[in-house]
Amino acid sequence: MSKQMSHLDDIPSTPGKFKMEKSPFVHNRLRWHSSLAKLTFWSCIFLGLILIFFFRSPSSNPLPQDPSRRSLRTYNWGGPAWEKRVRSSARVRSHNGISVLVTGAAGFVGTHVSAALKRRGDGVLGLDNFNDYYDPSLKRARQALLERSGVFIVEGDINDSALLRKLFEVVAFTHVMHLAAQAGVRYAMENPGSYVHSNIAGLVSLLEVCKSANPQPAIVWASSSSVYGLNTKVPFSEKDRTDQPASLYAATKKAGEEIAHTYNHIYGLSLTGLRFFTVYGPWGRPDMAYFFFTRDILKGKSIPIFEAANHGTVARDFTYIDDIVKGCLAALDTAEKSTGSGGKKKGPAQLRVYNLGNTSPVPVSDLVSILERLLKVNAKRDIMKLPRNGDVQFTHANISLAQRELGYKPSTDLQTGLKKFVRWYLSYYNGGKKAAG
Ligand SMILES: NC(=O)c1ccc[n+]([C@@H]2O[C@H](COP(=O)([O-])OP(=O)(O)OC[C@H]3O[C@@H](n4cnc5c(N)ncnc54)[C@H](O)[C@@H]3O)[C@@H](O)[C@H]2O)c1
Repeated sequence: MSKQMSHLDDIPSTPGKFKMEKSPFVHNRLRWHSSLAKLTFWSCIFLGLILIFFFRSPSSNPLPQDPSRRSLRTYNWGGPAWEKRVRSSARVRSHNGISVLVTGAAGFVGTHVSAALKRRGDGVLGLDNFNDYYDPSLKRARQALLERSGVFIVEGDINDSALLRKLFEVVAFTHVMHLAAQAGVRYAMENPGSYVHSNIAGLVSLLEVCKSANPQPAIVWASSSSVYGLNTKVPFSEKDRTDQPASLYAATKKAGEEIAHTYNHIYGLSLTGLRFFTVYGPWGRPDMAYFFFTRDILKGKSIPIFEAANHGTVARDFTYIDDIVKGCLAALDTAEKSTGSGGKKKGPAQLRVYNLGNTSPVPVSDLVSILERLLKVNAKRDIMKLPRNGDVQFTHANISLAQRELGYKPSTDLQTGLKKFVRWYLSYYNGGKKAAG
């Protein structure tokens, strides 16, 4: 047995590379010394090169190459003039007003919510990283719009804790309306890291700063109807299961709800999650169907209309932006104060989740018919099977909880809302002469 084993030990690990020498002991010692000298020599050269590279590099703080983190590197903030703008934007101008930090303020929902808060005299400061998930010039145009009504959007990333801490140092925000996120269902297959970056790491970074702020703000944030995933019980109620997400986007929003629970439980943060159902309207998002259908119908391009198995209808509970804004403001107004301070919980705090939908799902083919009538152009319909890359067959909100507790009552039907969207679209893109993103 032992003979067999020593025989096995003699077999080179890399067959063919190992040759037995005549006097192995002496020769191997010499080889060992020369190898050690060579190793030391090359290590010194290598170390030297690293040091030269490090000292000659313009930034001594190399950041990860992940494109979703680029934003942390390039933004400029701070200084007395900047602080003055921050303070002035966040100043409350009405009796009983609140001061709100709105993340994702250059986004579709963020712009509308910021403008509505400002209109009623609340203090509003925006924060957005202006990423290029969709045409950033649309975000810049929304920023210009807000600027005119006195809302300053700080350019920065929610993962930048130093920036967030600075903002809370300059302004004692009573509320945070957290809308910054990586949205979109299909893009998750292309850039999954951006969902983790904004929807998970970014949320934790924001909550960390909020929990340590003194006073702690109350937080209202955007979850999504997508958390219902493959749930088939309709209409979707907050009590239904949300453990079968159909996309990474949905999974990160679901994770957000669990993270919210943790920060509420440990630190006493008041947290309200709003599950939005397919929001549409003027200044909307170019990656959403109603938006790119409009663009493509005008261009004479065919548009994909999905159908489920056995010619099943794909439908969405389209919710008009003004109704969503009312729901957001009602959530802010009914949010109780957080109970902790300086990172310590002092008592139980409010934790809520609400559906904000329209309660009347519309088949996507009907959406196209409405657009055809409004644009006075016939669409080239391309009927396709619903791909399994994140979309669900239908969404339908039960909104009785939001109705009862927030006084939420959506009042815009799809026909009326799309009419407003199309009017905005045509004027913004100059009747289709300016390219839609
Ligand atoms: N629009 C809808 O139909 C819908 C439906 C369900 C949920 N939601 C949620 O509502 C919120 C607002 O959605 P929207 O439609 O306005 O999307 P949006 O993409 O127009 O707005 C999000 C904004 O957040 C910014 N942002 C993203 N990551 C950031 C980061 N790490 N740091 C700073 N800013 C960042 C983006 O630049 C963008 O301007 C999102 O949380 C979204 O997931 C939207």
